[in-house]
Amino acid sequence: MHQQKNISLKEFNTFGIDVKAKSYISVTSKAELVEVLSKNKDVFILSGGSNLLLTKDIDQLVVHLNTKGILEENKTPSETIVTVQAGENWHDFVLWCIGKNYGGLENLSLIPGNVGTCPIQNIGAYGVEVKDCINSVEAIEIATGKTKHFSTEECEFGYRNSVFKNELKGKYVICSVSFILKSKEHELNFSYGAIQNELHANGIKEPSIKNISDAVISIRNSKLPNPKEIGNSGSFFKNPIISKNHFIELQKKFPNIPSYPVSETEIKIPAGWLIEQSGFKGKRIGNTGSHKNQALVLVNYGNATGKEIFELAQKIQKTIKTNFDIDLEIEVNVI
Ligand code: EPU
Repeated sequence: MHQQKNISLKEFNTFGIDVKAKSYISVTSKAELVEVLSKNKDVFILSGGSNLLLTKDIDQLVVHLNTKGILEENKTPSETIVTVQAGENWHDFVLWCIGKNYGGLENLSLIPGNVGTCPIQNIGAYGVEVKDCINSVEAIEIATGKTKHFSTEECEFGYRNSVFKNELKGKYVICSVSFILKSKEHELNFSYGAIQNELHANGIKEPSIKNISDAVISIRNSKLPNPKEIGNSGSFFKNPIISKNHFIELQKKFPNIPSYPVSETEIKIPAGWLIEQSGFKGKRIGNTGSHKNQALVLVNYGNATGKEIFELAQKIQKTIKTNFDIDLEIEVNVI
């Protein structure tokens, strides 16, 4: 382990924001992580940097999780438990599952980031959330260095939410995630319209998990900017949930407002639609803007600062509040 001073974090966050870490260390094993945490309590844990907006230099010790390894054990003839170290790239792991014919995560193909952060925001796409396949989460308590295994109940998963974003924020470092995957009798989820259209266009009637993964990859590539080309952090805001009464009022004014029922009394509205209706979609403001194919994704056209992107986010929030009386919640971690 080698601690470095004053290094740029540009390569380590998918927004491509050029801020500096006063000190930085990369850890490649759980033992190294425990050792670093035993000597430093004020740390900034960096993983794939894909759900992060950095608006300033980091004064704490940046601990970069680069732990690798996948361990599999058969549970039943049709289920396998796979335990993955936090620093494994998420999409590479999904492709590994497809290669092994382990089903469950195919709808989550091509999501940027690493395995260790997938439980924090309970990543989700195309009708599936990662919580549906998580068996347990192993984490180290920063204060004590002790290991704890969290059951799915203890993770308190919700829509883009978990205990790690709330009560336990900044208290634990996730070091591995254990998944329960189907090795046969796959339960496919292709209810999402875009997936159906993609399968239909390719003449696929009885899809495999590979077909679904390919369809998701194709949809994401067509809509979402590749962070290697244009810096971004995926959906910048959560899709807001509003009361049914509020929705009925909005529907009078905006008859085409899209919506998904959440409960008897609550409705989810796609934030992308609200942002598009407010005129931000595809609009460039300085070095930043809302993406032309998916308004919910804010992008860095090159040299944007974190502050610039945050200012645009605040402007969008204010406009949505004025136009629809809806509070848009930021989904990305703003530092
Ligand atoms: N829409 C617009 N204009 C836009 C974008 C969206 O009008 O520019 C409307 C359309 O009505 C569209 C609807 O929003 O039908 C839904 O759009 P989309 O299918 O692209 O999904 P989303 O609700 O915008 C969510 C997730 C994505 C995930 C997709 C697919 C959140 C915050 N985002 O986006 O997750 O990939 O569904 O399941 O829940 C991420 O979290 O980073 C992310 C990309």
